[in-house]
Amino acid sequence: MLKHRSENLLTEKNMEILEAKTFLDDVINGLSLTQKQLSPKYFYDEFGAEIFERICTTPEYYPTRTETMILKNNVAEIAQRIGPNAALIEYGSGALEKVKIILDALENPNALVPLDISKEQLNMAAKKIKTEFPHLNVLPLTGDFTKLVKLPKELLNAEKKVAFFPGSTIGNFEKEGAIDFLKSVRATVGENGLMLIGVDLQKDRDTILKAYNDEAGVTAEFNKNILMRINRELDGNFNLNDFKHIATYNEEHHRVEMHLRSLTVQTVCISGVNFHFDLHETIHTENCYKYTHESFSRLVEAAGFLAADTWTDSEGLFTVVLLTSKFRP
Ligand code: TRP
Repeated sequence: MLKHRSENLLTEKNMEILEAKTFLDDVINGLSLTQKQLSPKYFYDEFGAEIFERICTTPEYYPTRTETMILKNNVAEIAQRIGPNAALIEYGSGALEKVKIILDALENPNALVPLDISKEQLNMAAKKIKTEFPHLNVLPLTGDFTKLVKLPKELLNAEKKVAFFPGSTIGNFEKEGAIDFLKSVRATVGENGLMLIGVDLQKDRDTILKAYNDEAGVTAEFNKNILMRINRELDGNFNLNDFKHIATYNEEHHRVEMHLRSLTVQTVCISGVNFHFDLHETIHTENCYKYTHESFSRLVEAAGFLAADTWTDSEGLFTVVLLTSKFRP
């Protein structure tokens, strides 16, 4: 028994070392490119996950409240389309708030698999939802959802698997990456499975830009947290005051681009490796693509899905789409 436990601990420790090494490799590679970049998945440590929840409540950030309203207004119809005994898999589950709207309306949900990269937030949210839905089988999985997901064995025989992917996180992928991800979800839920996905729509640039440049500076804090995290975990010496949060809208590619701009000529040291920054040089941290109903339908079809049902708010800001497999038996 004892031996077994210490073996488990060792594996967990090894995992942590491996993760830190991957993080360091990714940071060094990203900051060595001509256009310096960092992967947005590193935003979400315990602090980043908490700051992100605050972004969602800023007055400028319309996606969260709009999507929540769409879900609430249409939940009976959504639940009816999904049907009874469904097992839900939420990709990037965060605080698990939106899925509760669906769970409340579903007939006899079979299980919920919340999947998130932020371990602390995932465990807390999973515990909390278990108290609110005591009969629900909650099976949390920590990890990077862009890698193929190995479902818990309890789900192998589930009648119908439904992937839930709210928050327009699909917009944070490049086109090819989005198609690959959707294909992997289709493989996970099977031909009988569904995907319920939230997508931010193209609109006037002012509304979009405000959402990523809130007055209170929460998005700036979120963007800069990636530098803090490098300082904390990889022995970096970024001075946060020497970088500025930038979010611009690229009309040609219909995407928000987030950068961190160097305000001085400076050298930053990370785990003993030096990186030079010119004045105004940026680190590209994330893209958020905005779709139209048509461009999103084309995207999902390239991955073997069909946009079967669409729900939208009256202003046409955001949409929730139910995808079925194109090759349904
Ligand atoms: N995917 C959402 C969006 O693009 C949420 C999000 C991801 C986000 N990263 C962000 C929001 C950074 C604000 C800032 O809007």
